[in-house]
Amino acid sequence: MNFIITGATSGIGFETLKQLVKNGHLVFAVGRDFSKINSYIQDNKNQIKQYVFDFVNVRDIEKLFLDFELNNEKFDGLVHCAGIEETVPLTLYTPDKIKQIYDINVFSGIELLRHFTKKKYSNEGASVVFLSSVMGVLGQPGKIGYCSAKSAVLGMVKAGALEFAKRKIRVNAVLPGIVNTPMTENLFAHIVEEQIKQIVDMHPLGLGEVTDVAPTILFLLSENSKWITGQNFVIDGGYSIQ
Ligand SMILES: NC(=O)c1ccc[n+]([C@@H]2O[C@H](COP(=O)([O-])OP(=O)(O)OC[C@H]3O[C@@H](n4cnc5c(N)ncnc54)[C@H](OP(=O)(O)O)[C@@H]3O)[C@@H](O)[C@H]2O)c1
Repeated sequence: MNFIITGATSGIGFETLKQLVKNGHLVFAVGRDFSKINSYIQDNKNQIKQYVFDFVNVRDIEKLFLDFELNNEKFDGLVHCAGIEETVPLTLYTPDKIKQIYDINVFSGIELLRHFTKKKYSNEGASVVFLSSVMGVLGQPGKIGYCSAKSAVLGMVKAGALEFAKRKIRVNAVLPGIVNTPMTENLFAHIVEEQIKQIVDMHPLGLGEVTDVAPTILFLLSENSKWITGQNFVIDGGYSIQ
């Protein structure tokens, strides 16, 4: 089967890429810096097609789809893992920064969905998974841009699920708590030790690993979830139940 993974060069997207490849699928991997995973790509080059794309260029997503070499086949799934996080007090936010968060996390997601769901690109019964976050349903100081963008993803998933149900295309979201990835390393590099401890303590099962999240994405891409659409899958080690 054929899958698109954005954010395939790092973290949750890279783990999803690896699990799809392991299951024998062809993955259309989208990222900016493939040098980070070059040796993995070389070892699996028959199952991975690379596409360099920056999601700040939302309007060029149509061209990205035209560039995909599908060889008369269609896609069976899309996972939009590309995303950015920003933790700063609102006074330090700028309209441009908020726009960047929305361009990558939200507007690109809508544009990817718009093209993916065209009959020429996707099979009936295809599955789309968006990366929201527990921050899409909870709040944290300094995260107005990120929390609101990840909430918007949840609205997108529900409306998209209803709109494309007629083609049996399913649209769901996963909502991770804090997972050990470069994004989290970057967050931890900008806060003090005590704040890191607070975040860790808020996860009753400890922080997550990418291998805690990718299996749910694989499940949502698979036939085993063919009656599930418009749902939010919280994967957060218990963060949100307190
Ligand atoms: N890690 C967490 O704790 C956590 C928790 C909840 C939700 N999430 C969500 O899960 C998703 C993946 O996060 P992660 O932790 O795996 O992040 P990550 O390791 O930082 O990876 C982010 C990915 O997004 C890509 N990306 C960033 N900006 C881009 C842009 N302008 N254009 C194209 N690609 C871009 C990066 O590509 P390049 O590296 O090639 O530039 C990279 O592949 C995000 O949506 C994030 O918000 C993460």
